[in-house]
Amino acid sequence: MKKFIVVAVLVALVAGIASFTHNPTPGTIDVNDSLRALYSRPVAEWPKPTIEAGVQWKEMSALPVDSNIVANLKDPKINLGKLLFFDPRLSGSNQISCSSCHDPDLAWTDGRTVSLGSDRRQGTRNTSTLLNVAQVKDLFWDGRSTSLEDQAINPIATIHEMNQEPPTIPEELEAIPGYVDLFEKVYGSKRISLDRVLDALAAFERSIASRSSRFDEFINGKYTKLNDEEIQGLHLFRTKARCMNCHNGTYFTDNQFHNIGLTYYGRKYEDLGRYKVTKEAADVGKFRTPSLRDVMKTRPWMHNGLFYNIEGIMNMYSAGMPQPKRKPEQANDPLFPATDLLIKKLDLTPEEKKSLIAFLDAITGVPDKMDRPELPK
Ligand code: HEC
Ligand code: HEC
Repeated sequence: MKKFIVVAVLVALVAGIASFTHNPTPGTIDVNDSLRALYSRPVAEWPKPTIEAGVQWKEMSALPVDSNIVANLKDPKINLGKLLFFDPRLSGSNQISCSSCHDPDLAWTDGRTVSLGSDRRQGTRNTSTLLNVAQVKDLFWDGRSTSLEDQAINPIATIHEMNQEPPTIPEELEAIPGYVDLFEKVYGSKRISLDRVLDALAAFERSIASRSSRFDEFINGKYTKLNDEEIQGLHLFRTKARCMNCHNGTYFTDNQFHNIGLTYYGRKYEDLGRYKVTKEAADVGKFRTPSLRDVMKTRPWMHNGLFYNIEGIMNMYSAGMPQPKRKPEQANDPLFPATDLLIKKLDLTPEEKKSLIAFLDAITGVPDKMDRPELPK
């Protein structure tokens, strides 16, 4: 018995020394109890993220509310907005609705590289999800619109989207008695104006939000909800992989614009991004940092739908993303794009990439089911 105690004390001592000398650099801690212990406590006590000096960032946090899109529909305005959102009669051909491209079954996207609209005309950008769109200040990949009310005119009028003359919409809808009743219920009079249509659409869009994910439960104190691999991914996301420099806060976005090297400058698929809005050389190739909530459901990814495979994104970030070099004839080109300095070569191991992907799974919730409505006659 005595011998056993001596051995036990020795083992404990050696283990103690080992853990004392094991001085982990951020991101390289083994998946073990210590990493779990570091994160099984309030966020304020988590290891600090690796953030560059000068970067404005917000700590991660749980969703403020668990959305319930079906309950929201009890609000008559939101319900009217839903009908309009699903109604192809808003388009020139009467064939395409907002939901053709923002399909609730596909996390409010269309699953395509770039969108396909009226007469199967192809757009140039990947369809944004509408999840959490109420939180977005600058709408579209380049931030060219700042209010949902103004924004909806865009897809309605755009030739490769719904290809409709917006001023004709009120007249078309006034010919549908079911709509006249609904507008009266919501706005107090039978008049259908474009402003009212856009107001109702926007109210519906604001109700489209993420459900809580396992990460939300974890951060709210249910520390068994993430497995070791996901916790390692969380730690890497905050430290070695540097994701949190841009993807931070409740929605994993800084709501800023960055060039991560996908401009295709001077090439066939060139997209100058934010520059198109501001005409500032420094904005060439910048796009809004997308939220990563529910990201595993919004493929393909990036403004151009370049990636269908999340491993490809991890490999690209790990390699430091494309860093375009000037050709001799571009030596003095003031618009030549520069990849953001926050992007650095990461040299992630295959195991680390897997953990990061596991973390992205953990911030993807189980979506609300949204039935297609019966449209007013
Ligand atoms: C033909 C496909 C298509 C249709 C139809 C369509 N959209 Fe979109 N939507 C897109 C694409 C593509 C983008 C991204 C465009 C960009 O960033 O330049 C987008 C972006 C948006 C955004 C910005 C989201 C964000 O996070 O920045 C909103 C809001 C939106 N659409 C609402 C609507 C509404 C409302 C309708 C119906 C009136 C509609 N869309 C119809 C393809 C479509
Ligand atoms: C310099 C800021 C920055 C950093 C650092 C960064 N991202 Fe991004 N991320 C962006 C921007 C901007 C985009 C959109 C770029 C585009 O479409 O051209 C993006 C897009 C993405 C997308 C695609 C999302 C979608 O809806 O299309 C994923 C996934 C992603 N990032 C994950 C990560 C991960 C994981 C890390 C860390 C390894 C990381 N990001 C680091 C800014 C950043």
